[in-house]
Amino acid sequence: MVKVLRLNLRKFIDDSYEILIGFRLLDNIPSDLKENPLGDRYAIITDSTLKNIYGNRLLNKFYEEGLSACLIDFPAGEESKSLNTVSYLASNLLRSGINRKSAIIALGGGVVGDLAGFTAAIFMRGIPYVQVPTTLTAQVDSSIGGKTGVDTAEGKNLLGAFYQPRRVYIDPALLKTLPRREFISGLAEVVKYGIIYDGNLFKYLEENVDRILGLDEEVLLNIIERSCNIKRTIVEEDPCEVNKRAILNYGHTPGHALERLSGYKILHGEAVSVGMRISGWVAVRMGFWSIDEWERQNKLLKRFGLPLKMEFDIDEMIEAMYYDKKAEGETLMFVLPKRIGEMASINGKYKIPVPEEKLRIFLRELAD
Ligand SMILES: NC(=O)c1ccc[n+]([C@@H]2O[C@H](COP(=O)([O-])OP(=O)(O)OC[C@H]3O[C@@H](n4cnc5c(N)ncnc54)[C@H](O)[C@@H]3O)[C@@H](O)[C@H]2O)c1
Ligand SMILES: [Zn+2]
Repeated sequence: MVKVLRLNLRKFIDDSYEILIGFRLLDNIPSDLKENPLGDRYAIITDSTLKNIYGNRLLNKFYEEGLSACLIDFPAGEESKSLNTVSYLASNLLRSGINRKSAIIALGGGVVGDLAGFTAAIFMRGIPYVQVPTTLTAQVDSSIGGKTGVDTAEGKNLLGAFYQPRRVYIDPALLKTLPRREFISGLAEVVKYGIIYDGNLFKYLEENVDRILGLDEEVLLNIIERSCNIKRTIVEEDPCEVNKRAILNYGHTPGHALERLSGYKILHGEAVSVGMRISGWVAVRMGFWSIDEWERQNKLLKRFGLPLKMEFDIDEMIEAMYYDKKAEGETLMFVLPKRIGEMASINGKYKIPVPEEKLRIFLRELAD
């Protein structure tokens, strides 16, 4: 005799949140949180570089508003994106009096956002957090969509959770102190949005290269807002990446492989730029995309100062691509443009299998 009890747990979850974008927003975050509280105490999590540039300044604004807050930092850099740092952060949160009624403020680039978000997801089984992205990559990409996690010795982002922030505060003025190379790397993701979703954004980028590189406020605000809006729309449609959200990974299958092969010496956006040239070529050769538009993409990347080529061994490259999460079973999967502003799909599926023999040929063609 088997007795069966059913535990009914159908959930309706509303994970909606607002993304606020504005110059000099940073100093107003505490007053906004005072009006729309998320906790009775706030822990700012940031990295060692940002602590001195913006961390202490933000902490003081919390104090000025009479809010209870503390600041915890860890060494800047991808090497910190590990479980070790999560347990370091958890201990420090506990010692700083953070409890299940408190909230976390993730102040930093993608490393801080992924780490602080993941810590928030598991601290006391989950407390609220907000994203305050400080790199262009984080402002247009990683702060939105709730992907959090850490790396392991075996690879990047292998442990994690979908855990949405409760609010995102984007202040493009923070980009003024960002190292030039990091800023340019972030532009690769903006070009990506143009290719995968918005031909008008792509054209706008072509027309405003100098103003973008000169950090013109109006243009920066515009490209950040449009990028966030695209990411928002795609995440709303497919929050857990069942299908369409995969288009956000355009250029990333070869890009991640290149990052790996370089021992993470090249920046993510640089690898994605080279990866978009590769994926774009695959799209051309598989008959999805026109060579003219592929060249137009490459020209824009180049004008931004992004790399288009990197030396690699084709066998090693293919092996590294199989390692990527996007390789399902035995076949390598790519998302491929159909025209600037739209991705190709087969029977409604955006991930398109590319046979290894063909890929080998395409990669050889690009090396010539
Ligand atoms: N969760 C997602 O959806 C998602 C998406 C894309 C990337 N990521 C992750 O993001 C990480 C990369 O993030 P990143 O490119 O933002 O780099 P990062 O967080 O490592 O920051 C780069 C460097 O710039 C410094 N810095 C950041 N902002 C600054 C500022 N305003 N002024 C001066 N210095 C500043 C940092 O201290 C750091 O040394 C990777 O781990 C990647 O996996 C996550
Ligand atoms: Zn990316």
